[in-house]
Amino acid sequence: MVELTRVALNDTIKTVWLLSGVATVIGLNNGLGQTPIMGYNTWNDFRCDNVSAANIEKVATAIIELGLHRAGYRYVNIDDCWAVKRDAEGVIVEDAEAFPNGMKSVGDYLHARGLKLGLYTDRGTATCEGRPGSEGYEELDAQTYAQWGADYLKEDSCNAPSDHEAAFEQYRLMRDALNRTGRPIYFALCGWSSWYAPVGKGLANSWRVGYDVNTWENVWYNAIVVNERLAQYAGPGGFNDVDALIGSTPGGAVSLTTTQSRTQFSLWSMMSAPLIIGSNMLHLTTFDLETYTNGEVVAVNQDPLGMQGTVVWQNCPSTDLSRDQSVENAPVPNCQQIWAKKLFDGYAVMFVNFTSTSAASAPWTTHRPPEGKALEALELDVQAVFGWEAANARDLWTHMNLGIHRRLVVVLSGGNGESKVLKLTKPALEVKV
Ligand code: GAL
Repeated sequence: MVELTRVALNDTIKTVWLLSGVATVIGLNNGLGQTPIMGYNTWNDFRCDNVSAANIEKVATAIIELGLHRAGYRYVNIDDCWAVKRDAEGVIVEDAEAFPNGMKSVGDYLHARGLKLGLYTDRGTATCEGRPGSEGYEELDAQTYAQWGADYLKEDSCNAPSDHEAAFEQYRLMRDALNRTGRPIYFALCGWSSWYAPVGKGLANSWRVGYDVNTWENVWYNAIVVNERLAQYAGPGGFNDVDALIGSTPGGAVSLTTTQSRTQFSLWSMMSAPLIIGSNMLHLTTFDLETYTNGEVVAVNQDPLGMQGTVVWQNCPSTDLSRDQSVENAPVPNCQQIWAKKLFDGYAVMFVNFTSTSAASAPWTTHRPPEGKALEALELDVQAVFGWEAANARDLWTHMNLGIHRRLVVVLSGGNGESKVLKLTKPALEVKV
């Protein structure tokens, strides 16, 4: 009798323990991504060619010598094309020619320099470039990545079910396998769809909300149009991912104009998106380096509140997202937006002119258009939007204090993605202006 009671009690304890064990893996419990992560990814730079240990080491050296590491860029993420097969035990195998000393030695190299190792896989049977996928190998792959010292894993969605529940289940398998390794590995889900956002935080540290961003048109359609309505899902521990930064440096797989690349960087900062450099890192231009190391804009991205900015005014047409998101190069409309992001000590505001024509010919209306007249500038009423009598404004690209204003009037005459980012703080004293 006594014995039986003890067994029953033990069973109860076991059940409670098991339940709490289950509870701890309901979400990702790695504590990472409290602010958007910053780093580099090979895909926009090398695509499938030249993904090798030698090039990763060169990239790491450039990151350090250019001071990007000091500015916060720590993750060096190796995208598709590093894996070639599985061995007899099912263990994933690196391309022996490209990684002659194995992936662990790449991890050791990066860690010795204060950088982090990022790897790529796919939740299906094969990656988009036909390399082995993780389906059915989640546990083994997670253990292998942890042994190699991986700090980040991107899991793509090629050759995998597109049904939502099936996709979530596959991501849960890898999430739990990563949790079980005991190594904090940032988990980047890559499902190219906005329907991941509502469940994103339970699955990963970030989730791709749209298709690849390779062009200015993609910046508009695959990032802005999709993500402007997903702000509520972002926050410390989990952020909407709008793909990597493109930059304006020639020689990579993709590039934008200088103006567009800086605007992309500012928009990503306003949206609390991961700042993953996808430029030709080995020949980075001074312009791009200045963009990526602008500490005042990086601080907007890294603000500890982790709130994604929202559009507070726009004249851009509303887009039906139910249509196929893969429409490549849908034209950028002639329109403007004003974004605002709450920061722990104020607000960041961004004015963007997406139109390719100059401001003078754009039929702009703003918060207060003069009667019967189209404006040639964007105007923001500080009280109407922020509830303050006036704001102290600072231009985060020219690094100039602009004084105290009740209304902010910004002229963006260049068009084609020209933008301005201001930081607003509440003036210390009540002002009469
Ligand atoms: C795509 C993904 C890209 C890149 C590529 C590699 O599906 O969106 O970011 O990882 O696969 O094949």
